[in-house]
Amino acid sequence: MTTVLITGGSGRLGRSVVAGFADAGHQVISLDRDVLPPDRLAAGVVQEAVDLLDGQAVEAAMARHRPDAVIHLAAIAVPFSAPEEVILKTNTMLAYNVLRAATDAGVGRIVTASSPTVLGYGNPAGWLPERFPLDENTVPRPWNAYALSKMVAEQVMRMFATAHGGSVRYAAFRPCYVISPEEWAGAPTQQGHTLAERLADPALSAPALFNYVDARDVAGFLAVLLAKMDTIENAQTFFVGAADALAVEPLNKLMPQYLPGSEELSAGLTGTSPAFSIAKAQEVLGWTPHHSWRTELIETNSADLTSAASH
Ligand SMILES: NC(=O)c1ccc[n+]([C@@H]2O[C@H](COP(=O)([O-])OP(=O)(O)OC[C@H]3O[C@@H](n4cnc5c(N)ncnc54)[C@H](O)[C@@H]3O)[C@@H](O)[C@H]2O)c1
Repeated sequence: MTTVLITGGSGRLGRSVVAGFADAGHQVISLDRDVLPPDRLAAGVVQEAVDLLDGQAVEAAMARHRPDAVIHLAAIAVPFSAPEEVILKTNTMLAYNVLRAATDAGVGRIVTASSPTVLGYGNPAGWLPERFPLDENTVPRPWNAYALSKMVAEQVMRMFATAHGGSVRYAAFRPCYVISPEEWAGAPTQQGHTLAERLADPALSAPALFNYVDARDVAGFLAVLLAKMDTIENAQTFFVGAADALAVEPLNKLMPQYLPGSEELSAGLTGTSPAFSIAKAQEVLGWTPHHSWRTELIETNSADLTSAASH
């Protein structure tokens, strides 16, 4: 059994990650400013209310729990949901405080959450990638404080890896638009609409380039990552997404409508292909996602969606 300390464990993604590690038999500690009611917490999970902007409180938590691994998820997770300087300061300091305290406490495996938004899509001044599918070699061009804060979080991770050689194992991951189990059942997503609405109106999913991932698949990815971190190259970053796009129609048809100038670039995104490649996670870690909107969406069905999309 491994002791895994998860920050942001009360959040949309954190709840599934906490549950995934607890169900797999690990000792899980969740640190979050907000604590969950006990009936929403997996059995055996320890949760503590901690403001992770308080560096000494983070140090004390690491000393108390002496985890084998730390997964840092806590952040202001929605771009423009707070003033830009607040998002930048908060997310960068959270990453620094957690990764520093974990490193100083001798934690052997440390993972931090980044975001695909580092690439810069959605820029009102215009954006086109060098190619599709997007992957870990695509050049990041963040254009807002959230995306920049995630770039800095990745750099913080690399800084500690540089300072500590290979003795501590680090990684970062960029989860696509996270769908939690209750959202498949009809609860509102991060942007306030339901998944059925998001699928019926491609304009809702287009700003994220139709990406998504099931929160339980992210938990599965993190389990595989922790198991293999000692044997792979240190301080890598991985995209974590579904195997298909969150769209009824192929992206070579949709992308040019929402990303002007992308006709040729997106020509290869046929069938159900997503815009983001997860080949690196598949090849380096042997991880593969198990959930797709095509099988998980229980509120409606794909026939309704096809019909909605054609109107
Ligand atoms: N949800 C997505 O689609 C998505 C996509 C890409 C990346 N991410 C990243 O994944 C991580 C988790 O995202 P989420 O959707 O679960 O976000 P969320 O907002 O649901 O959860 C974030 C959690 O962090 C906690 N938190 C924030 N500031 C804190 C502080 N100072 N001290 C202690 N706790 C604090 C919040 O209370 C919350 O429970 C974030 O780092 C986010 O940037 C999310």
